[in-house]
Amino acid sequence: MLIFNNKAGITSLLSNYVSTKYNIGFVPTMGALHQGHLSLLQKSVQENDITVISIFVNPTQFNNPEDLEKYPRTLEADVEKIKSVSDKIIVFAPSVNEMYDGNTSSGSFSFDGLEHQMEGSHRPGHFDGVGTIVKKLFEIVTPTNAYFGEKDFQQLQIVKKMVEKHHMPVNIVGCPISREENGLAMSSRNQRLSAEDRTKAAFIYKTLKEAQQLFEEKGIEFTRNYVADAFSVHPEFKMDYFEIAAEDDLIPATIKENKKYRAFIAVFLSNVRLIDNISLN
Ligand code: PAJ
Repeated sequence: MLIFNNKAGITSLLSNYVSTKYNIGFVPTMGALHQGHLSLLQKSVQENDITVISIFVNPTQFNNPEDLEKYPRTLEADVEKIKSVSDKIIVFAPSVNEMYDGNTSSGSFSFDGLEHQMEGSHRPGHFDGVGTIVKKLFEIVTPTNAYFGEKDFQQLQIVKKMVEKHHMPVNIVGCPISREENGLAMSSRNQRLSAEDRTKAAFIYKTLKEAQQLFEEKGIEFTRNYVADAFSVHPEFKMDYFEIAAEDDLIPATIKENKKYRAFIAVFLSNVRLIDNISLN
C-alpha cells in the first residue's frame, strides 16, 4: 500500500491518473478510523478507479485546544483497517507543516449563512478551518468524487456550497450514518467514552427516533420541548443544542413548509462532545 507524507510525492503519482482520465475517489478524514469511515472508503472503491484517503488532524478546525490535544492519533491501526478494505487505496498522511507551511491559520469563507448555524455558532471558526483544509486537500488530490458522511450533515452541506461557489470540479457524495448496535453514531471521539458512557449514549439516538415520530404527529414546537425535557431529567448529559431545521438552509424552523427537515443535536457526556442528526420526513 502506498503511503505519502508529502504533497510532492502524491501529486506526482496522481498526475499519471489525471492525464489518463481515471476517476479519483477521495475520503478526507482525521484518522482514528472506524466503520463509519470505512463505509465511505468502500463506496469510493466501488465507484472509482482509484481511491485516496487523507489522515490529518486539522488544527485550524479545533476551537478547543484540549479537544485537539486529546484527539486520538492511531496511524498504524488506521493503515491496517484501510488494508482490510483494499490494499490499493492510497494514503495521504501529511504533517501540520506540510499542509500549513508554518502558518497554521484559516482563510475566511462565506457559505451563504450555513456557517452561522449550530456547529458554526457553537464552535467559532470551525467551518473556516474545515473550508481551508478541504480546499487544500482537493487541490492536491484533484478528486472526481469526494465522500462525506451525513454524521456531520452541516459539514456536508458546507462542502457542497464551497464546491458550488468556487466552481470546483468535484462531485460531493453524501453517505449514511454508521451506528453502533445500540444506535450510537460512530465517532472517533467515542474512544474517549467509558464502556458505561457508551451504553448511556444510546439515549441520544433513542430520543432522535422519538423526535422523528413526534415531528410527524405533533409538529416542531412540541418536538423541541419534548427533547429538551427528555434530556433535562438525564443530568449526565449537558445539552449544547437541539435544532430542527430544513436541510437546505439549516435555519431553525418554526413552521413546516414543503421541505426536507432534520433534527440536529450536540451534547456533552463526561466532557466528550457528541453530535448526531436524523432525517424527519
Ligand atoms: P472525521 O471526523 O475523521 O470524519 C471523516 C469523514 O467521515 C466525514 O465525512 C464524516 O462525516 C465521516 N463520518 C464520521 N463518522 C461517521 C459515521 N458514523 N457514519 C458515516 N460517516 C461518518 O470530518 C472530518 O473528519 C474533518 O472535518 C475533515 C472533513 C476530514 C476535514 O478535516
